[in-house]
Amino acid sequence: STIYLKDYQAPDYWIDTTHLTFDLHEDHTLVTAVLQMRLNEDANRGEALPALTLHGEELDLVSLHRDGEELEKDQYQLVKGSLTLPVEQPRFQLQIVTRIRPQENTSLEGLYKSNGMFCTQCEAEGFRKITYYLDRPDVMSVFTTKVIASQARYPVLLANGNAIDRGELDNDRHYVTWEDPFKKPSYLFALVAGDLEYVEDHFTTMNGREVTLRLFTESHNIHKCDHAMVSLKKSMKWDEEVYGREYDLDIFMIVAVDHFNMGAMENKGLNIFNSSCVLASPETATDATYQKIEAIVAHEYFHNWSGNRVTCRDWFQLSLKEGFTVFRDAEFSADMNSRGVKRIQDAAVLRTAQFAEDAGPMAHPIRPESFIEISNFYTLTVYEKGCEVVRMIHTLLGADQFRKGTDLYFDRHDGEAATCEDFVKAMEDASGVDLTQFRNWYSQSGTPVITVTDRYEAETGDYHLTIAQSCPATPGQEHKKPFHIPLGLALLDEQGQLLPLNAEGGNSEGNREQVLSIKQSEETFVFKGCKSKPLPSLLRNFSAPVRVRYDYSKDDLVFLMKHDTDSFNRWDACQRLGVMAIEQLVEQFDEQAEQAVDSQLVDAFGALIADPKLEHAVKAEMLCLPTEASLAEQAEEIKPLAIVAARKKVKQAIAETHSAALLALYNELHNELNHGDYRPEASDIAKRTLKNVCLGYLAAVDDAGYLQRSAEQYNAASSMTDRRAALGCIVNARHRDEHLVEQMLTDFYDRYKDDANVMDDWFAVQSSSAELGTVEKVKALMQHDSFDSTSPNKLRALIGGFTRNMTHFHTTGGAGYEFLADRVIELDKQNPQVASRVMMPLTRWKKFEPVASGLMKKALQRIKAVHDLSTDVYEVVNKSL
Ligand code: ARG
Ligand code: ZN
Repeated sequence: STIYLKDYQAPDYWIDTTHLTFDLHEDHTLVTAVLQMRLNEDANRGEALPALTLHGEELDLVSLHRDGEELEKDQYQLVKGSLTLPVEQPRFQLQIVTRIRPQENTSLEGLYKSNGMFCTQCEAEGFRKITYYLDRPDVMSVFTTKVIASQARYPVLLANGNAIDRGELDNDRHYVTWEDPFKKPSYLFALVAGDLEYVEDHFTTMNGREVTLRLFTESHNIHKCDHAMVSLKKSMKWDEEVYGREYDLDIFMIVAVDHFNMGAMENKGLNIFNSSCVLASPETATDATYQKIEAIVAHEYFHNWSGNRVTCRDWFQLSLKEGFTVFRDAEFSADMNSRGVKRIQDAAVLRTAQFAEDAGPMAHPIRPESFIEISNFYTLTVYEKGCEVVRMIHTLLGADQFRKGTDLYFDRHDGEAATCEDFVKAMEDASGVDLTQFRNWYSQSGTPVITVTDRYEAETGDYHLTIAQSCPATPGQEHKKPFHIPLGLALLDEQGQLLPLNAEGGNSEGNREQVLSIKQSEETFVFKGCKSKPLPSLLRNFSAPVRVRYDYSKDDLVFLMKHDTDSFNRWDACQRLGVMAIEQLVEQFDEQAEQAVDSQLVDAFGALIADPKLEHAVKAEMLCLPTEASLAEQAEEIKPLAIVAARKKVKQAIAETHSAALLALYNELHNELNHGDYRPEASDIAKRTLKNVCLGYLAAVDDAGYLQRSAEQYNAASSMTDRRAALGCIVNARHRDEHLVEQMLTDFYDRYKDDANVMDDWFAVQSSSAELGTVEKVKALMQHDSFDSTSPNKLRALIGGFTRNMTHFHTTGGAGYEFLADRVIELDKQNPQVASRVMMPLTRWKKFEPVASGLMKKALQRIKAVHDLSTDVYEVVNKSL
């Protein structure tokens, strides 16, 4: 059944305090909840004391007491998903005892076991699998948690807040009691019990609070905590400096677990992380993983204010905490690393994956209006587009006014459950900027398209820039109102210099960069005093999550690649040129015929490789051709095999033409890096990235010598970054050497077979490979000893890797789709969240060429026909057919 934002009602009752006792055993857990309940005087209801309905799923109710008196079975109603009981006093106490079976909980929601340790995941609605409760984020309570377990098996017992009591009991049992002084909703509850080790550090806050920092892992991973700890301290400092936000408890803990549905969770004082998002050593983690860890540690830490101190009123407001927190972590990462590159990477994800979501059957505004299963709305739209919406507010207000806005927001709503509207209102009130029209970003889905046309008048020197906006229809939203769009702009003259801007109604004279505030469906800006027709640099720094259409010639793009001062736009010019060249080949796709690759592109890439002034990290990004996924997103109709073949052809042409220069650059960087230890620092990362981009090109030349270079790098590698990059090159090299491929995959396996996170990658490198990743191969890998079908990471690596494999997933005949449908049907019984996520690629069926499209649809129909689908899969399959 569908839930609507417009139906929101405040709860009839509050829960002032929550006392939980967990008695953990090997075959079950007993949970005792003592809740201090209070009537919500302000709720709009018919009766004086309405019946109380608590959420609860998969619970055995052992006993129920109201104000000390046991309620008999005929005094309450127990139906699927809830418990309803009568109320006789405006204030009363409930004692609820439930029995749960964490050992059998494969959904990884609520309390479950991972590698012998107990852990929890309660967001969004997992707490109701622990006890009966008002499991909604606007019900905030002070929690005390007593955890009792075997001392030998579970020496470490953790929950939110500060430990206030501990002791030993009979039969080798012990307990720890934790108290969290801050009111919080149930989704922020956490508990961990296990045989864990920890590393400890300290942080002194700006007002002198001494905070103990602890990172817990299984003992064999204890040497992989340093980077996360350093990242945590940097995050704490940054949030003080940039937002004035200080940590508020005496201890902050992070626990790494292997079985986890998402990346990580911001539970108050006790963050729980997917081990892949927190553990790193130079031998086992790539640069990309190091940067991901830094970002996610920051993200979860930042939630302490944007999410926990100020939480969400209801789940429609999810972007209030997620969009804002992603914006905070993105700015943090930009400050710690290369700002330009961070922007390019984020824009690439948004344009590839979020734009696709916005154009598909599950499209929704960043604040959805309805849902069947909230887990399906932890999306790129809510998170990443939500971040872009916050960024646009930042752009429109400027950094200072934005900071006044966040101060006001935190001040006003500390300790409350707020809405997106509250956030925008605080921004408006603090800055005086009118955001009325801007609010359309919260209510309208779909990606706006900006169409730019221009005209130059030689006699007057006037340059007319006309900007029109529109937004395609999306499910349930036929017509859209115009958006308020900040459009970054500069104009380049014939020498490639930025012109001073003096648009009528625009900024003061002399600015060479400007943000136009676009509000109409069409408006024209006139720039005076241009000696010749300028070339516009549009949407600088990716100032809004929109598509820009402007009729750039190839010459224009080559010019922008060279001269634009905006990293994002230089990269974008490169991407556009790449898309043009590849699309041209896709159109004339013919497996037999010899087709010429656009020489302008090949030349431009040559200039790029040789450019001595360009920042390494930006160069590396620019040298990467548009990904298959991004080409698919931009295609009218997706022709998978043509895309793969065309992109490969262009890459080979660049590689062959410039092999000498690529090798020289590779050698130069390789030698520079050869001194000194591995450091996950921006400057070294940039060199390694560029070096490995070069190696990737060299692997596209049909030459045993270059393949040998990859093998040498693999064998001599002192970091996972180099080893993993070389392995990818060997597996996918144009000069095939099956023996070498086998040898290297075996070597990699032997080295890392005991490391679950590295093994994920071993599966992914194979299943995503155009050379290796056939359906048969993937099926065989599912039977491999190191595969674990209860691990979301393994499933994402092997099956997710395969669905990204354009060559084999989309093989004619539909075997790939049928394989995926089988996995979804099977997984839905075990873990609905993961099932619904891995099936997403099928939902894009309408965009594919007819044969593939029909087969994808058939696979979806087969899923739909299954009885008893979870709400997760049900919603996705129904909306996409
Ligand atoms: N709040 C977490 C984060 O973004 C994500 C939790 C998602 N959980 C889920 N079941 N969908 O940091
Ligand atoms: Zn988050």
